[in-house]
Amino acid sequence: MQKWVVANWKMNGSKNLLEEYKNAFKKSNNLIVCAPFTYLNETAELVFGAQNIYHEAKGAFTGEISAQMVSEFNIKYCLVGHSERRQYFGERNDIVRKKAELCIENGIIPIICMGETLEQYEAGKTQEVLELQLRECIPGKNNFWIAYEPVWAIGTGKTPTIEEIRSVHLMLREKLEKTVLLYGGSVNASNAEAIFGIANVDGALIGGASLDLAAISAIYSLASG
Ligand code: PGA
Repeated sequence: MQKWVVANWKMNGSKNLLEEYKNAFKKSNNLIVCAPFTYLNETAELVFGAQNIYHEAKGAFTGEISAQMVSEFNIKYCLVGHSERRQYFGERNDIVRKKAELCIENGIIPIICMGETLEQYEAGKTQEVLELQLRECIPGKNNFWIAYEPVWAIGTGKTPTIEEIRSVHLMLREKLEKTVLLYGGSVNASNAEAIFGIANVDGALIGGASLDLAAISAIYSLASG
């Protein structure tokens, strides 16, 4: 079965990388490119996602971008609650939920990121943390995705064991029968096959490796089975 590949460029990339993606992935299914706002456009060649929107619908919030504005560019996906947003921009669960709701109201699928810190992982609190995040972050209406991203695995080269990912995704699946469930955190061309093979993992959210065309191409072909 084909798995989703969601590339999260973060504050990286260039027009050049965008061109490389367009050439490599023209009309590819199941690939979503979460590039910085300046690179999002209505091209039919790639499917884009935003990395963030503001948590109010409109108003005097200089420098911010709303869900409605993003939707006008035919952007159908948006990351919300990424751990970097939580860490550097004070995004709390209630704000994550507001953002997810605004996305849904504007026809955008929010990809809600959640996961435990290293301290919580070492204390065996992964399940507890996720249950709280699920309770507080997920919107009343359906049509959202979840990305399980252990904070300690993001950009570190470390990942949970296959068994640990399997057990978290099983817990998520039991609560969210039809939701697309992604795993994120240090996915690369070497571990992608094993991660895509885990039950209830519908795809991966990829940061660092998405900036390397050879790596993301390799991951994409593994996702296509
Ligand atoms: P990483 O980032 O692949 O570089 O660990 C994943 C993410 O932050 O979405």
